[in-house]
Amino acid sequence: MTNSGFNQWMTHIQERTEAALERALPSPDLAPSRLHEAMRYAVLGGGKRVRPLLAHAAGDISAASPERLDRVACAIEMIHAYSLVHDDMPCMDDDTLRRGKPTVHVQFDDATALLVGDALQTLAFQHITEAALSDSAQRQLGMIRQLAIASGSRGMAGGQAIDLASVGTQLSLPELEFMHIHKTGALIRASIGLGVQCGRDLHEDELASLDHVGKVIGLLFQVVDDILDAEADTATLGKTAGKDAANDKPTYVSLLGVTQARALAEEMCQDALDRLAAFGNSAKRLSELTRFIVRRQF
Ligand code: IPE
Ligand code: IPE
Ligand code: MG
Ligand code: MG
Ligand code: MG
Repeated sequence: MTNSGFNQWMTHIQERTEAALERALPSPDLAPSRLHEAMRYAVLGGGKRVRPLLAHAAGDISAASPERLDRVACAIEMIHAYSLVHDDMPCMDDDTLRRGKPTVHVQFDDATALLVGDALQTLAFQHITEAALSDSAQRQLGMIRQLAIASGSRGMAGGQAIDLASVGTQLSLPELEFMHIHKTGALIRASIGLGVQCGRDLHEDELASLDHVGKVIGLLFQVVDDILDAEADTATLGKTAGKDAANDKPTYVSLLGVTQARALAEEMCQDALDRLAAFGNSAKRLSELTRFIVRRQF
């Protein structure tokens, strides 16, 4: 019963995110049409939309308006999509399959893939400045700053730099945690943080607790990604399985093995759920989504 309600909610948010992204991305009829076509190829018609789902679920806690949440969700998904385009390039993970399709540099070319990333990142910031996300302009400025930090060298891009520098090495658990919290965790954490801030003011303690939840979900999301890379097949993942081992990447699986990595993900899930219990029914979707992230098959 709950599950079918959750599945319906998920489909609803995924569909409204797709529609909002469709509206936000430049038409391929506009020049330069090949770049616009490639941006749309990178963003539309694929992906689980986990970050938009997190923003909407977090927005439930502060009774945020769905329209404001769409805007935050689209901006974060644009940055996420750009990070995937660059992550797949030959100079990074060198992948040819993403979301069940050829990667952007394969379908288009390397230079276009670079420019898609540049253009999606700036479009994301344009997008969150074009409408009010909060009744307070001061708060909106803070939200934009938060997204910038989460995306940059102290966030996702920094985590990616550590990932590349770590090829062929074995990291300690704290080092691996630091890398994951940045390369993947930062945008996930921002999805929750920004979603919540679209609504009514929460108490400082509540915000701190939700930030902790965001940090935990962000880390466990990448731990599960590491597990799926080792355990799932390419057709299910829509991206080439076994790439971490093939690229000699340090992961939770290479350090701890699948069983222990899985146990750690379950432990983190419980930590997040315990925190969310304090928010009662308003955190129902975020709790369900946390369970979904741990149990997902792709
Ligand atoms: C994949 O993210 C890359 C990571 C940050 C682990 P997702 O698993 O959210 O990919 P999509 O958006 O569903 O394709
Ligand atoms: C990617 O981590 C994190 C990003 C910031 C894109 P991975 O390299 O493990 O992501 P996948 O497995 O290619 O999706
Ligand atoms: Mg990578
Ligand atoms: Mg990769
Ligand atoms: Mg991976």
